[in-house]
Amino acid sequence: MTDLRDRVARELERTRLRSATLTEAVDDGDLVRQHSPLMSPLVWDLAHIGNQEELWLVRDVGGRDPVRADIDHLYDAFKHARKDRPALPLLGPAEARAYVATVRDKALDVLTRVRLEGRRLTADAFAFGMIVQHEQQHDETMLATHQLRAGEPVLSAPPPPPSTVDVRGEVLVPGGPFTMGTSTEAWALDNERPAHTVDVPAFFIDAAPVTNAQYAAFLDHAGAEFQATPPLHWSSDPGGWLATEFGRTAPIVPDAPVVHVSFHQARAYAAWAGRRLPTEAEWEKAARWDPATGRSRRYPWGDEDPGPQHANLGQRHLAPAPVGAYPAGASPLGVHQLIGDVWEWVDSDFTGYPGFTAFPYREYSEVFFGPEYKVLRGGSFGTDAAACRGTFRNWDYPIRRQIFSGFRTARDARPSELA
Ligand SMILES: [Fe+2]
Repeated sequence: MTDLRDRVARELERTRLRSATLTEAVDDGDLVRQHSPLMSPLVWDLAHIGNQEELWLVRDVGGRDPVRADIDHLYDAFKHARKDRPALPLLGPAEARAYVATVRDKALDVLTRVRLEGRRLTADAFAFGMIVQHEQQHDETMLATHQLRAGEPVLSAPPPPPSTVDVRGEVLVPGGPFTMGTSTEAWALDNERPAHTVDVPAFFIDAAPVTNAQYAAFLDHAGAEFQATPPLHWSSDPGGWLATEFGRTAPIVPDAPVVHVSFHQARAYAAWAGRRLPTEAEWEKAARWDPATGRSRRYPWGDEDPGPQHANLGQRHLAPAPVGAYPAGASPLGVHQLIGDVWEWVDSDFTGYPGFTAFPYREYSEVFFGPEYKVLRGGSFGTDAAACRGTFRNWDYPIRRQIFSGFRTARDARPSELA
């Protein structure tokens, strides 16, 4: 148990450093300003991170008195729409930092004392894992806010690794059942559970996400019937398409996955290419199914936690890596870059798996189930490994493109191709 407590403490610490990087990169004016009506002020995200940690770890798991019960309503994401949050009497930057530090001290004290077994919320330190993932998810949201912020660049990172293998075309995924979701991953969230069998007919899927060059060809050549529109943050220039990333504008990188496209744009591209988006089950089978054993792996490359050789995750870089940059992360069938780089839209509504039960609260997933939301899989360069499993599911409105969203295409296999 000491190992688990140490690991939790390290994850909390590592995650808080990321939150600090994102909130210390700008001045107080930029922290309280709303950079887009789609996003909260950064200072809201910061105190909300602390408030969720207080609610779950300090009050529920720890049974301690509230730190600031008076501010709960300000940071309840269901009480105030993002566009309304700047008008609330929010904690200022200094107050928010002091608040999250106080909460963290108490949460770490709870961690040293609580039994990490018995109760479902604390078994395997689930509540702590949930809070780490929650903070990492808001860190990715804050990174998207940085992308929408006008002004001089304030974030920097080394460029992603170059392509080292030639990856092109499509991969046949044979038909048959596979295990989707998980019942064993300790920190998996309710919507990833339970493991269940899905029979997926044979299909072809792109070996890599659709690239900037491919998407630009769509923009340049598709007829009006396809309603081709550029990704968010692109602009046209006599020399070609430009993209603005975190305050820097440069020509698009031709062989990097396209990012900041909506579900509708992804589907329009696929239609133009004579293809379609994969379903969620197809995506997960391509990512996890091992044809040698018939087993579903945790990740495309196996059961090992993601390392820098496997995938572009965790804001180590501030852009998707070119196709072919992560051969060590490919699936057994040769599908590349399923994890990291860009979230991939799939053609499935966000729903509960057979046997779904909400845990630990309906507002985590269940209230979003239905046809309004489409699923995204695989994580982006801005997603932390702690919040990105082979089973992890993200969801958003199909019009959204401020997130780090891309896609790959698929098609049915013809009987003549299966002989
Ligand atoms: Fe949240």
